[in-house]
Amino acid sequence: MDQNSLKQMVADEAVKFIKDGMVVGLGSGSTIRLMVDALGQRVKAENLKITCVSTSKYTANQARELGMLVKGIDEVETIDLTIDGADEISDDFDGIKGGGAAHLWEKIVAINSKRNMWIVDEGKLVHQLGEFPLPVEVIPFGSGQLFKKLEAKGYHPTFRMNGDQYLLTDSDNYIIDLHLKHIEAPHALASELISLVGVVEHGLFLDIADYVIVGTQTGIKRMTR
Ligand code: A5P
Repeated sequence: MDQNSLKQMVADEAVKFIKDGMVVGLGSGSTIRLMVDALGQRVKAENLKITCVSTSKYTANQARELGMLVKGIDEVETIDLTIDGADEISDDFDGIKGGGAAHLWEKIVAINSKRNMWIVDEGKLVHQLGEFPLPVEVIPFGSGQLFKKLEAKGYHPTFRMNGDQYLLTDSDNYIIDLHLKHIEAPHALASELISLVGVVEHGLFLDIADYVIVGTQTGIKRMTR
């Protein structure tokens, strides 16, 4: 099975967890695009009354086009379940997110959700985080100075580009990717990064996922924290 089929498998599995009346957090990325399509079909076929909160403009547009009700995060009381993708998930259920530059909104939605489910293909499972570049969302003002500080720390930063322009997030910030290879102490790194002036949010998602659904060559694997 190719990677896309594994993504489709977990997308189809995840939508089974959505019940009528729920407030659902919708993640971002290619796996979530498939999940939102599958959810749109269920909503139509079963006339489900759900409310969605999105983690990106892209996903919000997709959900609205499929006829789903999308509200802003400050318009809902609570989010029952958020389903999102991930770029890497370690043995201890920590993750790197932000490959699609959406991790700031993703983290805000995640920490305001009662439960968080990640859906991934098996290629995302690692023993230790860090092979995938760690995204850091930064304020454009002074980002060149911040870049030099990250370089001096040996974090091998690169600005994420969109052609010859800096890529802009949904909050009009920049992304600096850190090429770390191995993250020995994720919590310590998370505290260090968030304390740097100009950093808005990093892509380390620690102690956030409650469930992970993995698409493997031999079928669906469900993992609970
Ligand atoms: C978006 O910024 C990310 O956090 C995505 O959730 C993550 O990159 C997974 O995306 P794919 O499903 O496209 O691999």
